[in-house]
Amino acid sequence: MLMPLPQNFSASSATTAANLVSDGNGAAHAEAMRAELQAGLLAAPASAAPKYLYDALGSRLFEAICLLPEYYPTRTEAAIFDANLAQIAQAAGAGTTLIDLGAGNCAKAVRLFPALQPRQYVPIDISADFLAQALAPLRPCFPAIEMTGIGLDFSGSLDLPATVRQENRLFFYPGSSIGNFAPDQAAAFLQRMRAACGADGALLIGVDLVKDKAILDAAYDDALGVTAAFNLNLLRHLNRLLGADFEVRDWRHRAFYNPQQSRVEMHLEALRPLSVRWPGGQRDFARGERIHTENSYKYTMQSFADLLGATGFGAIRSWTDARGWFAVMHARAV
Ligand code: AVJ
Repeated sequence: MLMPLPQNFSASSATTAANLVSDGNGAAHAEAMRAELQAGLLAAPASAAPKYLYDALGSRLFEAICLLPEYYPTRTEAAIFDANLAQIAQAAGAGTTLIDLGAGNCAKAVRLFPALQPRQYVPIDISADFLAQALAPLRPCFPAIEMTGIGLDFSGSLDLPATVRQENRLFFYPGSSIGNFAPDQAAAFLQRMRAACGADGALLIGVDLVKDKAILDAAYDDALGVTAAFNLNLLRHLNRLLGADFEVRDWRHRAFYNPQQSRVEMHLEALRPLSVRWPGGQRDFARGERIHTENSYKYTMQSFADLLGATGFGAIRSWTDARGWFAVMHARAV
């Protein structure tokens, strides 16, 4: 399921939003995606995977979320990196093959380049055209770093092309995206990273920590409604992917911390009884019925260290902010 980006792509030659998750077997993949989406919509309760939040507009709405005062993770993580850059770079060592999972606009990794001095930079993102636009201007700025962009839905596979160096792999998974996996799936994903990084590999990961419910609720249901737009935009993406006829105005955003499950849940809730159709299927929704669109699990330093230990990582080093809201962890393959 991967598609190396051309070396000298431009916005116009990049893949279109319609085939972000292309794998060179486009028709079969699109069919599998429709089957997955349909199964989610027909389930009780209905669901759609959070990766479908990130079409071209969704990726930009997420960038806007990161600027909101309520959404603390991005800036808290950035402050942790800034305050501990030398120590983090020392833990990682120079000359890594820096594999950036969900690179988006590549900004987080680029901030690390001067201290980290990677040998090769491998940004991976499901939104290939967004990635292509971000990577193009970086190449001339960092001529010493080999850059290999990959359009890949890495939730499906971590098989990397031969152009990615084997030595000294450092998987970079910032932003607390690991929280989108349920704990057992997170363990499976960490194990796949462990397998893909080899004996001399390591992981640099951002983890959002358990905290007061009011802070978490506000972070995922902001006053401006940017997160609401981000969530509702998934319906437009489904309309394009599935040929469905969702009316965005018939739905509202719901997001709240569920302390029993240690996760923020994001849902779309029907404002009235309605019926949604797509080629080959349909689903009725009662008023108040929901589509579950995202979980964002929160960990403690200890619970995440335990997860790392259970999935083949050790020599864990952690950095956090003064309020203990977020953690950055470096761990080596053991
Ligand atoms: C990108 C998965 C880390 O869970 O906080 C932000 C996505 N969802 N606001 C998160 C998100 C709603 C974000 N991650």
